[in-house]
Amino acid sequence: MTTGRSRCVALFVLVAVAAQAASAVVSDGLLPNGDFEQGPDESQMKDTRVMSPNAIPQWEISGFVEYIGSGHTQDDMILPVPEGARAVRLGNDATIRQELCVIRQAYYSITFTAARSCAQAEALNVSVTPDFGVLPIQTVYTSSGWDSYSWAFKAKHSTVWLSIHNPGHEENPACGPLVDFIAIKALHPPHHVQAGNMLRNGDFEEGPHIFPDVPWGVLVPPMSEDLYSPLPGWMVLSDTKVVKYVDAAHHAVPRGARAVELVAGMECALVQEARTVPGRAYRLSFSVGDGANGCEGTLGVDVYAGQTRATASYESRGTGGHRRVELDFEAAEGLTRVVFHSSNYHMKPDGTLCGPVVDDVSLVPVHRHAARRLRM
Ligand SMILES: *[C@@H]1O[C@H](CO)[C@@H](O)[C@H](O)[C@H]1NC(C)=O
Repeated sequence: MTTGRSRCVALFVLVAVAAQAASAVVSDGLLPNGDFEQGPDESQMKDTRVMSPNAIPQWEISGFVEYIGSGHTQDDMILPVPEGARAVRLGNDATIRQELCVIRQAYYSITFTAARSCAQAEALNVSVTPDFGVLPIQTVYTSSGWDSYSWAFKAKHSTVWLSIHNPGHEENPACGPLVDFIAIKALHPPHHVQAGNMLRNGDFEEGPHIFPDVPWGVLVPPMSEDLYSPLPGWMVLSDTKVVKYVDAAHHAVPRGARAVELVAGMECALVQEARTVPGRAYRLSFSVGDGANGCEGTLGVDVYAGQTRATASYESRGTGGHRRVELDFEAAEGLTRVVFHSSNYHMKPDGTLCGPVVDDVSLVPVHRHAARRLRM
């Protein structure tokens, strides 16, 4: 461990010696000034632009960063900053960063809320060295224009810098995403599969922070296969689309507190691989339903277990409910890929994307004669 590098490390050492790290290490929830309610002094601003690197308490900025209050207007457009809230806008090549005390080798997820302010394809590069993720934010999944995004990392050190950077280069330097409400949550990835399920985190109970007062869930963006997932056990495969992580406080979920809504049609797949024995019979079962968010119609989920494919449909009135689906298959390989995607695109009455909710995915071996009996 590097010594004396920061207040953070020193504190951590002290507290770790006392075998009680909790007070020094960042705790789950909003980061210090993660909602930007504390802003710069007038003297450190030029109009809305923040002029000094340390002007925003707890944060360090570089590049064209603006500090925006609610109802701020620009080019006759009212920026969609929620009532009473304050946010930062990251212009071309702008970065905000905060130093965090974390537990080395532990996994964390970051949740933040962002809105695009111009029409361009916008993206944000979220990083904790050496990990980074370039999160596409051009598709809007809410009617307010604000979406919450998640990203995960594994801490390589006990002090890390979390950075959010706008890699864009637009002609209008003020064009860039608004960012607000940045939170962290320690992840406890189920390394070992639990008894009775060959899949990890099949009930989706482990996942990124969901803000109690934010009703629209958290988007889990696509990640390359070698990166950490904010939904432990699961990968999200897509070019630019996402799945939505929803909670029982704001949505109907089949069981427990959390589930996944497949909001991006066929363009995004939720994937997990399990070790299987070629030739052996298995049963994949899961719940499919609707989130009680007005997503009406025949919601279909295309599911793959290796080379076996099925479509499960659910008649939704948009008011919540689910059914259980089972798929029996024989493994062809030593590794079986379980894949879910929505069979179609669906929209809520407000015009935003929605889809089937998936929960409680389980994979178990079945006895051959049992499987045979089912087939009769
Ligand atoms: C994202 O940020 C990290 C950390 O600053 C950097 O190493 C990486 O090259 C960036 N990636 C892109 C695509 O901008």
